[in-house]
Amino acid sequence: MGGRGREWQQLGEGQGHPMVKLLGVMAVAAAVLLVSQYSGLLGLSLLPDLVSDIFRGGGKEKKQQQQQQQMTKKKKKKKNKKVRVYMDGCFDMMHYGHANALRQARGLGDELVVGVVSDEEIKANKGPPVMSMDERVVMVSSVKWVDEVITDAPYAINEEFMNKLFVEHNIDYIIHGDDPCLLPDGSDAYALAKKAGRYKQIKRTEGVSSTDIVGRMLLCLRDRSVGDLQTQESLQRQFGHGHSHDHESDSSSSAGASTRISQFLPTSRRIVQFSNGKGPRPDARIVYMDGAFDLFHAGHVETLKCARELGDFLLVGIHTDQTVSGHRGAHHPIMHLHERSLSVLACCYVDEVIIGAPWVVTKDMITTFNISLVVHGTCAEVNEQKNGECDPYAAAKEMGIFTVIESPRNMTTSTIIQRILTNHEAYKKRNEKKVKSEKKYYESKAFVNGD
Ligand SMILES: *[C@@H]1O[C@H](CO)[C@@H](O)[C@H](O)[C@H]1NC(C)=O
Ligand SMILES: *[C@@H]1O[C@H](CO)[C@@H](O)[C@H](O)[C@H]1NC(C)=O
Repeated sequence: MGGRGREWQQLGEGQGHPMVKLLGVMAVAAAVLLVSQYSGLLGLSLLPDLVSDIFRGGGKEKKQQQQQQQMTKKKKKKKNKKVRVYMDGCFDMMHYGHANALRQARGLGDELVVGVVSDEEIKANKGPPVMSMDERVVMVSSVKWVDEVITDAPYAINEEFMNKLFVEHNIDYIIHGDDPCLLPDGSDAYALAKKAGRYKQIKRTEGVSSTDIVGRMLLCLRDRSVGDLQTQESLQRQFGHGHSHDHESDSSSSAGASTRISQFLPTSRRIVQFSNGKGPRPDARIVYMDGAFDLFHAGHVETLKCARELGDFLLVGIHTDQTVSGHRGAHHPIMHLHERSLSVLACCYVDEVIIGAPWVVTKDMITTFNISLVVHGTCAEVNEQKNGECDPYAAAKEMGIFTVIESPRNMTTSTIIQRILTNHEAYKKRNEKKVKSEKKYYESKAFVNGD
């Protein structure tokens, strides 16, 4: 989850109101006028220069040329100095809301440095994290808008750390969402940065929170284990305020659905923002890997990295919600097709995704995309083989272009669900607080400019 105390997917300030832009352009124009007039006066005082210019003819033109050259030089200098922005957070159970916040932060500068809060600090301030520091760093580092990562960042930016950011890390601005982030003593966590004039805001990404995701996970448990139904139901009430799977619309989960506050609304614009917008080079070796990529985690990221290294272009097929639930059972996947697609698209090792890939990799598909290699990880979620279903990779195997890659981590979506369940008391407490503050946020929510 993002920042301290609040989920990530936070908000922000608009950068692009047309009126503001227009005013900006006018201000620049005025400044240019002033500068040119000023240098014109200077020119007059440099009489010898001027006289010689007049004699040579076209003195004014030459002056203007020189001025222009100087201005382009200045512009270039400004370009060379990269604007470095800093954003911090816990990034526990990272989702596309976090990725979107990082995308927006990167948009406010040229280089994005991300501080990942230490396990100890999260534990002390919010309760135990679901993902370890190592896993969280893998996730944050893999986001394509992140340039550098600072590990073990403090939960609150104190004066010492802020100066370290400015001096050692050359940070120009500290970025956070437009939700208030209060420290236990009630003070604003970003007050110091604001006072220093080095603070900028981004707009919160709506539709997902870790609280919500935990609620969805608890729903899958209901089907699996017998007994202790009461505990499960109470847990569901605690966490479940935002799941929105179609197949969950049965009576027992309607409590969750009715308390849902915000829902992910996939827009074509968001998909474009997350895309690379580039196809493969003509002679590129295209690698294909498919899967559910549910609860996108460090195991996925490291396997995708290995897959990308086997070629020049990694095409990832994301199975539809129906395909996933057909093989893993109701309440799966936890994340919807579009949510899963955005998470995978945000990963720097991925070049392109198929939003809703077929279960079977056909020969036709291999031809269509000019796929050179089809890969599969060794540590995959157990998928039930449905009756009469053939090997989805048969065509690729026949063509001799199928490879199994050793998964660097033995981590699956179930691993994460299991962690939540084992530790549910602690997460329950942590989420109770969260639900309250989220509710407050939505009650006072107003439109905020930005994307
Ligand atoms: C298809 O992929 C192969 C192998 O990577 C490559 O050499 C070839 O140029 C590609 N074909 C086209 C039409 O791009
Ligand atoms: C995953 O790997 C760790 C260490 O290599 C091992 O202790 C653990 O039992 C493995 N878990 C599974 C589910 O294979």
